[in-house]
Amino acid sequence: MIRLRRLRRTQKLRDAVAQTQVQVSKLILPIFVEYGKNKKEEIPTMPGVYRYTVDRLGEVVRAALQAKILGLMVFGIPETKDEKGSDAADPNGIAARAIRRIKEECRALGEELYVVADICLCEYTSHGHCGVLCGKDVDNDASLPLHAQAALVCAQAGADAVAPSSMMDGVVAAIRGKLDSEGLTNVAIMGYSAKFASAFYGPFRDAADSAPQQGDRKGYQMDFRNGREALREIAADEQEGADFIMVKPALAYLDVARAAREKSLLPLVVYNVSGEYSMVKAAAKAGFLDEKRIVQEILTAFFRAGADLVITYHALEYAKWKENGEV
Ligand code: PBG
Repeated sequence: MIRLRRLRRTQKLRDAVAQTQVQVSKLILPIFVEYGKNKKEEIPTMPGVYRYTVDRLGEVVRAALQAKILGLMVFGIPETKDEKGSDAADPNGIAARAIRRIKEECRALGEELYVVADICLCEYTSHGHCGVLCGKDVDNDASLPLHAQAALVCAQAGADAVAPSSMMDGVVAAIRGKLDSEGLTNVAIMGYSAKFASAFYGPFRDAADSAPQQGDRKGYQMDFRNGREALREIAADEQEGADFIMVKPALAYLDVARAAREKSLLPLVVYNVSGEYSMVKAAAKAGFLDEKRIVQEILTAFFRAGADLVITYHALEYAKWKENGEV
């Protein structure tokens, strides 16, 4: 008889034949940074996730280094918003300040973190859309130079990679062109290639204060009924010069991640988004499930599906559990 149970008999054997490992060095932690002094405010819809002021970033840097994760993804929350999201393109804006500070802290410690700057306008615009408006529509082409400028400012501040998340067509090419013309040829582009219009971003919009004032993002983010279209988005980003591709959200989109893995030669990133994080936190708090085991299972599933890197709010906690032998 074929007995598959033979290889499941002891823990040692199960470990030896296990196909997938979660490596902490493949995790990226998203962080939210705001103006002000000496603040660390918990985000109500995301327990354990905070908005930091720039002067408190040393804390995050040390925690990330100690956890030995790959790096940080930076989200800026400006003080004032306007139609064009000007703070995003300001060399003295919140994202640029945060990135400079993170890199300074790293240098002072003689250590390295991979810093990725999220490039989008929704946190910065008064209307909360990811590009500039023309009537009620987001004007794709008019938004491109603003994204390129925002990317340039973050790259000059020291970002290792920029990650355009607005789903504007041509944004990767626009950013690559701008960075190259300014001599920033080593800064990578992590395309949010297949980003779906998703209710899983709910808690993030609370965290980043970026919900659209009117309408939704379905005119630019992908329809979640489509899988093949994700592959077209990925092919477009590849052609435009992306260095990484991404599928987002992660959990409900593992079929897309797997298809992306099979189709593309680029490193694949999946973004374990805010709603996925908050669901786990809420259920764990209610005593409905065991958080450590659930997170281990979820992160493993991402790598089993073919992800090379995972962006997750659980990064630091997971690293700690792993270090303590709790997962
Ligand atoms: C900005 C952006 C969003 C997320 C990452 N970048 C929100 C959105 O598109 O509405 C979501 C991240 C998360 O939910 O954790 N466009």
